[in-house]
Amino acid sequence: MCGIVGFIGNRDCKEILLYGLEKLEYRGYDSAGIALINEDGVKVFKEKGRIADLREGVDESVMASRGIGHTRWATHGVPSKVNAHPHQSTSNRFTLVHNGVIENYDIIKKAELADVNFVSETDTEVIVQLIDKNVNSGLSVEEAFRKTLSTLKGSYAIGLLDAQDQDTIYVAKNKSPLLVGLGDGFNVVASDAMAMLQVTKQYVELMDKEVVIVKKDSVQILKLNGDKVERSPFTAELDASDIEKGTYPHYMLKEIDEQPFVMRKIISQYQDDNGQILLDEDVRNAMLAADRVYIIACGTSYHAGLVGKHYIEKFAKVPVEVHVASEFSYNMPLLSEKPLFIFISQSGETADSRSVLVQVKEHGYKALTITNVPGSTLSREADYTLLLHAGPEIAVASTKAYTAQLAVLAILAVDVANAKGIKLDFDIIQEFGIIANAMEALCNDKDRFDMLAKEFLSTTRNCFFIGRGIDYYVCLEGALKLKEISYIQAEGFAGGELKHGTIALIEDGTPVIALSTQEHVNLSIRGNVKEVVARGANPCIISIRGLENDEDSYTVPAVHEDFTSLVTVVPLQLLSYYAALHRDCDVDKPRNLAKSVTVE
Ligand code: AGP
Repeated sequence: MCGIVGFIGNRDCKEILLYGLEKLEYRGYDSAGIALINEDGVKVFKEKGRIADLREGVDESVMASRGIGHTRWATHGVPSKVNAHPHQSTSNRFTLVHNGVIENYDIIKKAELADVNFVSETDTEVIVQLIDKNVNSGLSVEEAFRKTLSTLKGSYAIGLLDAQDQDTIYVAKNKSPLLVGLGDGFNVVASDAMAMLQVTKQYVELMDKEVVIVKKDSVQILKLNGDKVERSPFTAELDASDIEKGTYPHYMLKEIDEQPFVMRKIISQYQDDNGQILLDEDVRNAMLAADRVYIIACGTSYHAGLVGKHYIEKFAKVPVEVHVASEFSYNMPLLSEKPLFIFISQSGETADSRSVLVQVKEHGYKALTITNVPGSTLSREADYTLLLHAGPEIAVASTKAYTAQLAVLAILAVDVANAKGIKLDFDIIQEFGIIANAMEALCNDKDRFDMLAKEFLSTTRNCFFIGRGIDYYVCLEGALKLKEISYIQAEGFAGGELKHGTIALIEDGTPVIALSTQEHVNLSIRGNVKEVVARGANPCIISIRGLENDEDSYTVPAVHEDFTSLVTVVPLQLLSYYAALHRDCDVDKPRNLAKSVTVE
């Protein structure tokens, strides 16, 4: 969470920093700030709220070609102007932005900075005060920076300015993402290449516990002990237009609409010239060698993992367990003899998942990451990676990444089934084509979902989603989507489970959204709908062509029974989107959330 940017070079950088922060708002958006340095010294501008609020407070007349910026998702201390970054040392010599969590900040405060008058409630302020103290003890700034970093426990991506040296931005990284971008006569710093695409596509990746001395025409990477590191830059495979909303009112709607395209892209990426599924041989061999697969993920990615379990067990005949990363990390179950771990993460930066990956690697187990972000931490640290090819997902509510995760998991399962000589009753490439068309038809029916959202969700306090089998897994995702952007208390349940307690919450008019796409449980789920209707519920049944009934609110186009999740999730995404609009919620930036959850 939190995003940082920095610029040092040959032109006024206010707009570059502010634009960059706007592109990083997905990482946090409760307060923001920039610090500019020129011959008159350092000027800091901070505001509670969004970058738009910060923009209004920045003095246009201050010209500076060096600066750092930050957009915050509060961990230590409420969102406020005082707690917003940049933070300064008491002497005002050092100014710093930080993304991450310093776990031992309180210990450092008491042990080393007892005489310092702290102005904020943040863990970050400890870093800048300690750097100042270490410089005062006689160290050079670079030495003091490295010494301070060695004292810190936790995660950090840092940008530091020294009021006595206009020619340097000091940078460091541990566990939180950070890149240095290279330009002609300037260099930049950013949590994500998206923030600086307007000025450069050339980036240098940083490893944990590295320090970088960034000047306008040089970049020097060091280890914490001062040893020099050489690393070649890479070109970001992103286009500035990939991260614009275009004519869409919200990123979420754009990303929902992109799903048919993403399905077709995935087919093309995982297909050979003969029209056969093509997967990295090492990934296939790792799957073949495993006696059990452990899928580890959070939130939407966890929900994708549940459907992935269905694919891998049914097609490839490999047993699968799916675990929430934050639980697995502290309560590891008894493992099989030859486990393979699959980490599913859109961002590839989720701290809870990474914490499990670190433990898995310590035990010497193999790990595969399925992610949308090449070069992300989870991708780098796992043995293998499969990419989602979904393009940047910017809305906090994940949509196209979820369907891409299902598609890649299905391809993985089919590939392993093929390798084992297991005969399947479908051609996955053909099925994906049918699914892409079905998604398109659903995206073209937005008015209908707008109306349904108005009817069922515009004023309700709560909402239940019920389904059985893979429909149940999609219900969990539908409920998460609805609650995160419309703030309606929403829960997904296995159809048969509601009557074991939760049915007590059904009142007159409570919306119950039921999915029915599986023939073998069609009658049972419809029976469950009758049970809630008898207690006053307002049912919204979403069925599939072939199983439809007069009482249904919507029927999605027919697709293969094992792949219905890829299609039924689209109405649930659109219902959530329109429910949020009807309730005047900020669709792309819901309260209390951030896109990339980089704290445990
Ligand atoms: C999805 O709508 C959520 N914003 C969230 O649950 C997300 O899926 C979760 O934080 C995991 O993120 P990741 O896929 O980037 O690891």
